[in-house]
Amino acid sequence: MIATNYLIVGSGVAGLTFAIKIAERFPDRKITIITKSNEDESNTKYAQGGIAIVTDETEDSYQKHIDDTLICGDGLCDVDVVKMVVTEGPKRLKELIAWGAKFDKTVKGNFDLGKEGGHSRNRVVHHKDQTGYEIERAILEQVHQKENITVLNHYFALDLITQNNHCFGAYALHEKTNEIIPFQSDFTVLATGGIGHLYGHTTNPVIATGDGIAMAFRANAAIKDMEFIQFHPTALYDASAGSKFLISEAVRGFGAYMRTQKGLRFMINYDERGELASRDIVSQSIDLELKKSGDDCVYLDCTHLDLDAFIKHFPMIYERCKSIGIDIAKDWIPVVPAQHYLCGGITVDKNGKTSIENLFACGECSRTGLHGANRLASNSLLEALVYSEKIYDYLADVSIEKSQFNGIISNWESAEKPKISPDYLAKMKVQLQLLMRQNAGIVRNELDLPKAKEQLLHWKNEMEEVSKTHQISVALYELLNMITIGNLIVQQSIDRKDNRGGFMKV
Ligand code: FAD
Ligand code: SIN
Repeated sequence: MIATNYLIVGSGVAGLTFAIKIAERFPDRKITIITKSNEDESNTKYAQGGIAIVTDETEDSYQKHIDDTLICGDGLCDVDVVKMVVTEGPKRLKELIAWGAKFDKTVKGNFDLGKEGGHSRNRVVHHKDQTGYEIERAILEQVHQKENITVLNHYFALDLITQNNHCFGAYALHEKTNEIIPFQSDFTVLATGGIGHLYGHTTNPVIATGDGIAMAFRANAAIKDMEFIQFHPTALYDASAGSKFLISEAVRGFGAYMRTQKGLRFMINYDERGELASRDIVSQSIDLELKKSGDDCVYLDCTHLDLDAFIKHFPMIYERCKSIGIDIAKDWIPVVPAQHYLCGGITVDKNGKTSIENLFACGECSRTGLHGANRLASNSLLEALVYSEKIYDYLADVSIEKSQFNGIISNWESAEKPKISPDYLAKMKVQLQLLMRQNAGIVRNELDLPKAKEQLLHWKNEMEEVSKTHQISVALYELLNMITIGNLIVQQSIDRKDNRGGFMKV
């Protein structure tokens, strides 16, 4: 058993920024971060476009950012939350800069603001096309300087420890020793990120398997808006499954055109904003175009853009394309939509509190009400920064009470059990990803969703049996978690009767 005051599950922007703040506020309290891979591995690390923040009130305004967020969310955002998040942006940016994160500036010394789909103004603060990498670097450096923070890499959180709707920590599997350790904590924060690998074709790294949401669901926490899966319109086309390289939406903000294989700039037929319509509309339009043409992908045409300026803003994208023989000065970039982000998740209030006492959720695994039916580009890093502050703010004044756990937190039952075949798990994962892509993708229908529900229920029962009779492993739990998330997405898609934002049922 490891006892800690604050247990944080996840080391992306949400978990790390909360850790820094609470560690500074309470130097005598113990903060433990457990993370399932290397400490920097996260969706955060791959964020490209940047953070949407109003920094120039002559050209932009909070109201415009609020309006853009609300339009994008298609009537389902919580207006108070939107106002709160947008107006706190500048403070959170200042903090990141104070922690050492660097953002691009113009020759005049102002922020070099990018533009993305759904934004009526240039307002995306960025570090080239590697904003997430830069943020993760800076905040990890801060975390390492705090003596009261311990980061435990390769600890996989399995389940929450709860009693009478109170959270007392979590069980985690130490991946190197296979030991299952109970972490007893006064406060627990889930910051476990996204779900991308449930779909296979995704911009997310392999850690994105929805673990935190599945754990919270098993503990009876409220989970909402799971039907609002965001598909990014422009993942680099590649026929194989697995993580896809993203071509940032900021490339379209920079002036790139979208074309069909025949060269048609089709977006103008779907939305007057053309290429800069919001992500849901662009992805749905590409899906329709591909179904019409039978082509495998559409294209981003950058051939008319200023090459030097492009390379300065997007060095990583330029190099990646070059490495696979695409010269963006001459060639179009083949792209397809891919799963990118989950707008729903663990329901939290404005303090980041879940429906379980002493359990908080922050970042992509949470559902705050900011995104509604579709997240506005570059609002995710912002949301994580604002909500880690809200959780901190709330907990900064909450005293630690003696644990009300009735009895002793037991060890995980650990009798010798056989190992499950990795091939069986891998095969099952491929089947699950295919099912989700086919039955719960960009466009869903009344026929396929119930079929998916039945299959998922069958797999759930099968996997629950397998997990009782076999040794616990990361792969086994990830699969179990992804099936749980699949069930939530499918059920909530069946329940939703109206098409909104990223949700389309025909
Ligand atoms: P993450 O950064 O994903 O961190 C989750 C952490 O939890 C990881 O450390 C993971 O290992 C850990 N974890 C998960 N499960 C467990 C478990 N069972 N046990 C222990 N640890 C666990 N958003 C923007 O606003 N602007 C952008 O420009 C942008 N670009 C993006 C580009 C790409 C390619 C991707 C994938 C996303 C992008 N996003 C962007 C979205 C944004 O990056 C994420 O939503 C955000 O970083 C999520 O932060 P987080 O801290 O909630 O989760
Ligand atoms: C991108 O750079 O296109 C991703 C931005 C985001 O997910 O908000």
